[in-house]
Amino acid sequence: MMEAALLSDRKQHEWWQTGVVYQVYPRSFKDTTGNGVGDLQGVIDKMDYLSDTLGIDAIWMSPFYPSPMADFGYDVSDYCDVHPMFGDLATFDRLVACAHDAGLKVIIDFVPNHSSDQHPWFIESRSSRENPRRDWYVWRDPKADGSQPNNWLGAFGGSAWELDDRTGQYYLHSFLKEQPDLNWRNPAVKAAMLEHLRFWLDRSVDGFRIDAVSFVMKDPAERDNPPNPESAPQIHKSLGAYDAQLHQYDQGHADLHQIFREMRALLDEYEPSRMALGEMHIYDWNELASYYSKDLDELSMPTNFGLLKAPWTAAGIRGVVDGVEAAIPPGAWPNYVLGTHDDQRLATRFGEQGSRQAAVLLLTLRGSPTLYYGDELGMREAEIPPERQQDPWGMTEPTLGRDGCRTPMQWSPDPAAGFTSANEPWLPVGSDHAVRNVQSQLLDPDSHLNLYHRLLVLRRGSAALRTGAYLPLDPVPPDCFVFERSQGTERVLVAVNFSAEPLFIEAAGFTGRIAVSTERVNEGNAVEGALHLLPYEAAVAV
Ligand code: NOJ
Repeated sequence: MMEAALLSDRKQHEWWQTGVVYQVYPRSFKDTTGNGVGDLQGVIDKMDYLSDTLGIDAIWMSPFYPSPMADFGYDVSDYCDVHPMFGDLATFDRLVACAHDAGLKVIIDFVPNHSSDQHPWFIESRSSRENPRRDWYVWRDPKADGSQPNNWLGAFGGSAWELDDRTGQYYLHSFLKEQPDLNWRNPAVKAAMLEHLRFWLDRSVDGFRIDAVSFVMKDPAERDNPPNPESAPQIHKSLGAYDAQLHQYDQGHADLHQIFREMRALLDEYEPSRMALGEMHIYDWNELASYYSKDLDELSMPTNFGLLKAPWTAAGIRGVVDGVEAAIPPGAWPNYVLGTHDDQRLATRFGEQGSRQAAVLLLTLRGSPTLYYGDELGMREAEIPPERQQDPWGMTEPTLGRDGCRTPMQWSPDPAAGFTSANEPWLPVGSDHAVRNVQSQLLDPDSHLNLYHRLLVLRRGSAALRTGAYLPLDPVPPDCFVFERSQGTERVLVAVNFSAEPLFIEAAGFTGRIAVSTERVNEGNAVEGALHLLPYEAAVAV
């Protein structure tokens, strides 16, 4: 019966719409060589954990390419190989085959906006003004007074322009100076980058998470960005000095749409279907919706960081969900993100109860969730002593360092958390690993891990949760967000109490039982047109 439901909605929906994506940060997942850094074999070794113990549907692999690691792999020096620290192409092929055997899809990070400054293209480009690859990057003359060509800033601090003394011109880098921006307006660059996608598609990857993709198309006139009158953060978190400007001209030019159409056409040459999840930090839902396009021929999904930014209240969350639902075109599919390798750990932001509510929301809202490794354990942001800091952003803007959310996955209570046999992993193990680890949490039915697992099992077996319609319920008490998911005759009720008080919620006409709750003691309770929720409880009734 469950299998039949699964097959019928898979006919109408793509795998990336029904499935849950799990982000693996390869450096920190599992080290099999004993050098203190995770590797591809580590992901292979943990495939059973991903497919069965946890029960996700697709892995997103953060970069594993050859790289000088100025930005931990987001500075690629060869787009078509594997950094020896992580393995080699043969290991990658085994990873994909092993994932596919386990019924999992594999999405890889693609970093189109910039390469490493050690990429052979940039080495050639910077060698002289006449080099045929000069125009593969963005080189500009200084202004008459020698200053930078315009006022654009690098996202990690300082100017976006670096003067190259040898040739007397500035090059553009929207992130670190070790990450020069490629010139996507040069057709040869675009063609070469699309060939890289093809390289990995031919190796059977199922899709791409496309890094910082808004930056690929900038204002052709390269106008100065206006000041930000509010000095308000432009995205979900403060970016320090970068927030002094409105980023109107250094990213997000309308020519992006054409690039997305071309990427999509390439993906559509392949069977079974392949996907593109574009990293975009956009909080105007109509603008976000435009990147699906009304003909649905651009990104499969732009990432939606709205829940990271929203106040953790019933009204805050509902505002995001209703806004997205109203804006996206018919047939388009929402995405929700609550944790990434760039953000403070979810459980640190929302606390124990909040992060359990987040698990329920992430896995029951209409849309494709991306789940960040370790969040299923409620791993907290780790304290990193200054001498162990790695993230270059943390060096320029101490409050913005991202090391605390990138620490080793916690497999066991052992001193190195079962991550490595090395004396010292590349980042310290979180101090909560004695409690928050896979081995211990598997033994505790009330653990975070078991809550995630129960939700994932419920979702796998429920067409309403995977693909059903979303209907918010009104009226409900103000501190409560209640919605229904339905498909055919199947109805699922989700209720989240954001208050410290028990709540009584009317759900006229709904009859069923609580299948999964953040308060396990309530699982199995009958729901007959009404629901009692404990303080901060989030419950799913079927
Ligand atoms: C976004 C990635 O998620 C982040 O980790 C990286 O530093 C920047 N893009 C630059 O590639």
